[in-house]
Amino acid sequence: MSIYQDIQAANAETLCDLRSDTVTRPCAGMRKAMAEAEVGDDVWGDDPTVIALQDRVAELTGKESALFLSSGSQSNLAALLAQCGRGDAAIVGEPYHIYRDEANGASVLGGIALHPVPVTEGRYMTPETVAAEVQPDDPHCAISRLLCLENTVSGVAIPLDKLRASTQPARDAGMVVHLDGARFFNAITELGCDAQDLAAEADTVSLCMSKGLGAPIGSVLVGPKDVIARANRARKLLGGGMRQVGVLAAAAMYALDNVWPRLGDDHASAVVLADALRKTGLGEVSQSTNMVFFTPKPDIRDALYAHVKAQRIMIGGGATARFVTHRDVDDTALAAAIAAFESFA
Ligand SMILES: Cc1ncc(COP(=O)(O)O)c(C=O)c1O
Repeated sequence: MSIYQDIQAANAETLCDLRSDTVTRPCAGMRKAMAEAEVGDDVWGDDPTVIALQDRVAELTGKESALFLSSGSQSNLAALLAQCGRGDAAIVGEPYHIYRDEANGASVLGGIALHPVPVTEGRYMTPETVAAEVQPDDPHCAISRLLCLENTVSGVAIPLDKLRASTQPARDAGMVVHLDGARFFNAITELGCDAQDLAAEADTVSLCMSKGLGAPIGSVLVGPKDVIARANRARKLLGGGMRQVGVLAAAAMYALDNVWPRLGDDHASAVVLADALRKTGLGEVSQSTNMVFFTPKPDIRDALYAHVKAQRIMIGGGATARFVTHRDVDDTALAAAIAAFESFA
């Protein structure tokens, strides 16, 4: 049986899927909104629902312009291609998605050097580490052009003052700043700030609709008008021009209206799960926003994971497992997950 058949078989019977917040499925209300969406040809700029979504997210974040793209990776890549040329460098936190998990698209396709810098336990870059990576005006060096932030990082919501401090050396050097906000809405929910407050820390921001917000696909890139126009060209170059995608934009609109306001529930569920795991004494636990990281004692790890999976709880593995709460983890599902760990203990 292939891994995918294995997962499909498990899916049909799963009581709780904690692998990621990307596993959410569109609910009935979202599907209805999709079915009723007005559509047009988005490459021609004709899709009224896409236009409405883009206008809404631009206004929400206080930016001039917005572009709907198929994924967070494509949105980040379009942002980098729009703001850096070949031989330019982008400074990025070493554990961040743009550096680790996007197939080095910026380097492969854009000739952009990614310069990783270490982050603190709070997952942010310090002004000192950023300053140390800003290159001098010297022909031996790539041109430091862009700083890439991320928020949340592994669930950790980075406070605005820490973000601002890390951008200062980049700003002083005339660099621009991009924020990978795949979980932007989890971050502002946790920080208790407005969307504009977080967005103001960067020139361009990528916001995913397909993580905790529960839409099936899509990210929105916001920023200055000229940068978004270049990102639109990059999207086309990447084969990401889309046609009657008002059906997808409608899902994102529904998510903003109905799912964003309840993200705090996911964070509360993560707290409940983390507390329950701690009480089992099976391993080390940490939690931030909708993510719980669990490091079981090595001698019980394999047996524990096998037991939990046998209870129809879908989890990742490894020395430290990540459990993510989301809209499809309701109270019943959460109780089933907790019971699986408790019964092993
Ligand atoms: C922090 C972060 N950025 C970007 C992405 C990329 O999003 P996508 O999977 O839509 O390409 C992810 C995906 O999980 C992510 O966690």
